[in-house]
Amino acid sequence: MLTDSYLRKHDYLRVSITDKCNLRCAYCMPPEGIPFLAHDEVLRNEEFARLIGIFVEMGITKIRFTGGEPLIRKGLMNIIEETRIRFPGLELALTTNGILLDEFLDDLHRLRVQKLNISLDTLSPVRFLEVTRRDELPTVLANIDRALERKFFDIKLNAVLFKETLEELEDLLVYAGERDIVFRFIERMPFSDSDLAASFISSDLLLEKISRMGVMIRNDSRDTAVSNRYDLRMGSGLLVKIGVIPSITHKFCASCNRLRLTADGSLKTCLHSAVEHDLKKALRSGSSDDELKAIIMGAVKDKQGSHKLDCYSADGGCAAVVNSRTMSKIGG
Ligand code: GTP
Ligand code: 5AD
Ligand code: SF4
Repeated sequence: MLTDSYLRKHDYLRVSITDKCNLRCAYCMPPEGIPFLAHDEVLRNEEFARLIGIFVEMGITKIRFTGGEPLIRKGLMNIIEETRIRFPGLELALTTNGILLDEFLDDLHRLRVQKLNISLDTLSPVRFLEVTRRDELPTVLANIDRALERKFFDIKLNAVLFKETLEELEDLLVYAGERDIVFRFIERMPFSDSDLAASFISSDLLLEKISRMGVMIRNDSRDTAVSNRYDLRMGSGLLVKIGVIPSITHKFCASCNRLRLTADGSLKTCLHSAVEHDLKKALRSGSSDDELKAIIMGAVKDKQGSHKLDCYSADGGCAAVVNSRTMSKIGG
């Protein structure tokens, strides 16, 4: 078991399979994009498969593939297939922007990648273009419905919170309610100095607005370790399942069970820490599985107790950014 010095047990690994993306979301990367990793810096399929195997042997029971945009990576289905054959009981999940989803629904279904988190920041084409800098909203919406038609996937939608999100709150909630999907709002995590200047909307402000739209009940089932669940019965009678990820104003580090493997083979034990452990170097210099396990164990032991994003007021944004990478190079 991967237990740290605060006795937190780690059974969830997020694997960022590529740093490349077909969108340019404003909260994730600058408009000009960022230099992508050189081909040789990114782990090869067999390197991902080997590391995943090692992590599972150490107690990981759930793997979420992230990016950049994970479906861009050519070998992703091969990595997933190999993992599925070796570990039939492993929980597999994917976070995607949804653009390429239709091409992969058959494979994801066959390989039982049941949990799909899909980014949907807005239902307005104009706003979608503004946020993602690409004109792809119709594709994403069509693919969400195609995935739903399978009646197999457990789908959650993610929106990063902006003041504009509040302006179209009702539309977003009705969209999710009509499809019976959990809609999750994520407090924006600043990753650059320019990010700090943009307005910050807290989960408390969001909940206050939602509670005025009907009868809202806290659902104790808790969506996951990071997300609080609420049910809203709107005036029309529509029931909406809502998730709130308050990473900044109500941090959930005390129950963190996550580790992150980056596309270039670094282990990050905290999303917001600049500390990284280079597994690729060890891998490529011929380390044995036991040697790699010792590095992983040491990294977990050193994991910090909580993130240091230091917010001075609920709606005032954050005072510090502590990281070594943009979000697209970590995978959320
Ligand atoms: P499940 O729990 O498997 O549903 O996934 P998730 O909610 O962790 O995954 P997803 O990729 O959809 O991430 C949603 C948001 O939660 C992203 O903005 C992540 O950056 C944020 N998030 C995920 N894990 C952590 C974490 O350990 N710490 C913080 N602060 N935020 C996280
Ligand atoms: N703050 C909060 N969430 C973010 N995501 C990307 N960048 C940020 C940020 N700066 C979210 C995306 C995606 C998930 C993997 O991370 O919306 O759903
Ligand atoms: Fe791409 Fe996701 Fe970043 Fe948007 S949030 S640019 S979809 S990696």
